[in-house]
Order: sequence, then structure tokens, then C-alpha cells
Amino acid sequence: MSAASLPAPGARRRFRHALLAWYDVHGRDLPWRKTSDPYHILVSEIMLQQTQVDRVLPKYAEWLKKYPSFEALASARISDVTSTWRPLGYNIRPRRLHAIAREAVARYDGQLPSDQETLLSFKGIGAYTAGAIRSFAFGQRAAILDTNVARVLFRVFVGHGDPKAHAMRKQLWAISDIVLPRKRVFDFNQALMDLGATVCSARSPQCAVCPMARICRSRRVD
Ligand code: ADE
Repeated sequence: MSAASLPAPGARRRFRHALLAWYDVHGRDLPWRKTSDPYHILVSEIMLQQTQVDRVLPKYAEWLKKYPSFEALASARISDVTSTWRPLGYNIRPRRLHAIAREAVARYDGQLPSDQETLLSFKGIGAYTAGAIRSFAFGQRAAILDTNVARVLFRVFVGHGDPKAHAMRKQLWAISDIVLPRKRVFDFNQALMDLGATVCSARSPQCAVCPMARICRSRRVD
């Protein structure tokens, strides 16, 4: 594959197959993977934007107990919401989550809209989070690209050049889109994240146990 082209159908098939087979055995058992409730998915993804999984886990459970729905969150006082959030850091995310809940209640009948344009109109929902919500909550064939996913796709399909360059970022979005299967989109996107967070880590990739070792352009030969 040249810098500007996309993986061919055979490479896409091999990647999908290897990724899903790996995920079936090694995928992490996380509570937001047992639901497609849009509110639950939104809460998990906003928490995971800047916080590690193990710190999110207890807060996610506490949050859903305290604010079980958009209505419950929308009617909570902002001071209460920010103090519930506090252990995850002093930041803008609880305010944004609260504002999204209020808008969902005021304008969308207590539901989260499912289309890309409306999702992107909310502050706090960028391209990654919109793709996560569409694929996890609504089962749409929507691509994701966060740091972990970008690293996996760059290493496997590109292997040279600057992974952070704007043009590369665009290409990685296109790869993320084209490798997505029609079925099992939820599992596929979760699996991409897991591979990046565990085996294909930034500093010490575990190529010896990687399901992509045979097709990866960046494989380290130990
Ligand atoms: N980081 C962002 N979204 C995630 C998810 N759904 N599972 C694990 N880590 C994540």
C-alpha cells in the first residue's frame, strides 16, 4: 500500500478476521461493553476521553447510580454534578455532559440524537466520540480514531512517515472507515481500542503475541 492508498479487500478481510478472533479470546470485560444504552455509552466515552479505564470503572458505576438517565442528570444541580466528577479531575467534562443532558431533554425528547452532524454540534463530542456513540449505541457502521486506534492502523497498514501529520491523520480515518466490517461493528471498534491499549502499546508493543504480526508493516523482529 502506498502512502495515499488504502488497504486492498484481501488485507481488510485478514485484518477483520484476525482482530475479531483475537477479541473473542482477549477482549477486556468492561461494563460499557454490555450495553448499547446511548446515555451509558455517552457517559463512558466522555469519562474515557482523558482518564484511564481503571480509574473510570468505579466512577462510571457511581455516576449511573446517582444519575441513571438524561432526565436525572439534567435536573441535578451543576455543583452536585461537578463534585461527583471531581476525582476524575477539575475539568470541563462534567459541565459538558450536564449541558448535553439538558439539551437532550429540552430538544430531543430525552434521547441522544444518532446522526453525525447533530452529535458534532454538542460541545464535548468530537469526531472520535461521535463515531464511538454511533457504533456502540446505535450500531451504525461508523469509524473511530483515537490515539490507540491511530497507532494500530498506522503500524499495521502504513509503517512509515509521520503518524501525527495532518494528511496522515486523514488517511488513518479513511483506513479506519474502510476496514470496518458491516457486521459486528461494536465489537470491531472495541477490539481496535483494546489491541492498541494492550498488545500494540506505544512503548513496548508485544509483537510476538500480536494477531496482526503476519500482516503488520511495522512488526519488530525479536
Ligand atoms: N477508551 C475510549 N473508549 C473506550 C472504550 N469503549 N473501551 C476502552 N477504552 C476506551
